[in-house]
Amino acid sequence: MVCLGNICRSPLAEGILLYKTQQLGLDWEIDSAGTSSYHIGDKPDPRSVEIAGKNGIDITHQNSRQFTSIDFDRFDMIYAMDSSNYQNIKQLARNEADKNKVSLIMNEVQPNRNINVPDPYWGSFGFDRVFEMLSEASEAIIKKYKDIQ
Ligand code: 4NP
Repeated sequence: MVCLGNICRSPLAEGILLYKTQQLGLDWEIDSAGTSSYHIGDKPDPRSVEIAGKNGIDITHQNSRQFTSIDFDRFDMIYAMDSSNYQNIKQLARNEADKNKVSLIMNEVQPNRNINVPDPYWGSFGFDRVFEMLSEASEAIIKKYKDIQ
């Protein structure tokens, strides 16, 4: 799960998908990162912590880190929150196999529409709406891959 700062959207995406997979007994490795170095080592934004907590999900243990090309080796799927993150991740791809792992997360809900999860950091888009979008996306991802272990 990748966004720009790894403090608002992708920590929520990580927390929500992890919570839902654990509820179903799925043993998936899920992590998040940011394309930027702005917030390396920082805790999730308090607004993300709050909306997650309201929904029974604890994301306070997370620490921001930057996405690197090693992540292509560690994960089967790389989900970008928006088209800018998507382009930045693809630029780090070393080959076609790496590139093929990268998707815009909301395309799992509405294929090919290339809908972004808006950046809530500056306050113009609500964290509650980000949470809803990522819950929907997590459900779609689980439905798609739950039978592949
Ligand atoms: P995120 O939100 O990419 O969802 O973690 C942002 C966090 C920090 C900044 C921008 C977006 N920033 O410019 O510091």
